[in-house]
Amino acid sequence: MKKTVTVFRGDGIGPEITDAVLRVLDAAGAELDYEVYNVGAKEYDLHGALISDEAFASMERNKVLLKSPITTPVGKGFRSLNVFLRKKYDLYANIRPAKSNHAVKTPFEDVDIVIFRENTEDLYVGVEEQIDADTVYATKIITRKASQRICRDAFEYARAHGRRKVTCVHKANILKMSDGLFRDVFYQVRADYPEIEADDKIVDNVSMQMVMHPQQFDVMVMPNLYGDMLSDLASGLIGGLGLLPSSNLGEEYAMFEAVHGSAPDIAGKGIANPTAFLWSACMMLEYLGQMECAARIRRSVDKVLEEKLYNTPDIGGKATTKEFVDEIIRKL
Ligand code: NAI
Repeated sequence: MKKTVTVFRGDGIGPEITDAVLRVLDAAGAELDYEVYNVGAKEYDLHGALISDEAFASMERNKVLLKSPITTPVGKGFRSLNVFLRKKYDLYANIRPAKSNHAVKTPFEDVDIVIFRENTEDLYVGVEEQIDADTVYATKIITRKASQRICRDAFEYARAHGRRKVTCVHKANILKMSDGLFRDVFYQVRADYPEIEADDKIVDNVSMQMVMHPQQFDVMVMPNLYGDMLSDLASGLIGGLGLLPSSNLGEEYAMFEAVHGSAPDIAGKGIANPTAFLWSACMMLEYLGQMECAARIRRSVDKVLEEKLYNTPDIGGKATTKEFVDEIIRKL
């Protein structure tokens, strides 16, 4: 039986890559039906809500969301819809796999890192307070419960996928209580996974080590802010944001999205790379048990990337989004 999923088309390059991905899913014979909604600033201007009630209802019915990027104003305006969705649906585990693809040349080889980013707290609770005209406080929240579940998910993933090591990333030398709690919980959880190597490193050192010796890292687990930054760094190691997918998982809901944003600098030009979003859709298919369909799409994308004839400009090619997708579909 077909599974119905909710799709948010987002803005910037969101609509272009959404249409591209849905074409590939259909061509690959994914057992899916879609409920597609426009969301974001344009939707607000037209109908007075960033996300309509119907779109929320669809998400709550289907429990699975394929979401393309949404623009968030900097410094003023509404809070991030992404942060809001992760919090509202308790999508606490943000999983971001960054793996070298030999078809995309970078100075770094054999990178194979899976980042587990805690997705619901830390500085992203968005609690800021104006103390006086020249002083603002921002609140960082770390709880035992949220730390436990993300650390457990990282070790469970390592066990299920035969990975050798889990590294905890923190700043507990300065943030002794908050990041100290995260690190303590990491080692408590680790006691149940004695066969998996575990270590911890301070986030500034990790930033340098990931650039100097990225191959030393395997599964990594960290609070929200470090996960946000280091996963963009990881995307740089494998050829850019156009290649980094993600899943956001909770106990009841799941959301799949590319790590990149709405890329306003290239929106409407027809040159966005849909690979990260396509791989996010593959993670969704795998989550739904449609392994063979996901594998076919992955093989086809790999072949097109490898041939280099239809790659988009961000990874050194000259093709448009449409030409890239047409070729993927031809190869399916
Ligand atoms: P961005 O990820 O949109 O773009 C960074 C750079 O990477 C740009 O030069 C862009 O052209 C390039 N890029 C990103 N995705 C690409 C793709 N698929 N193909 C080719 N090139 C690609 O980050 P930026 O510019 O900081 O953010 C733009 C907006 O997106 C902001 O409003 C931000 O808040 C929002 N954003 C939304 C996210 C989401 O919806 N999950 C995540 C990150 C940012």
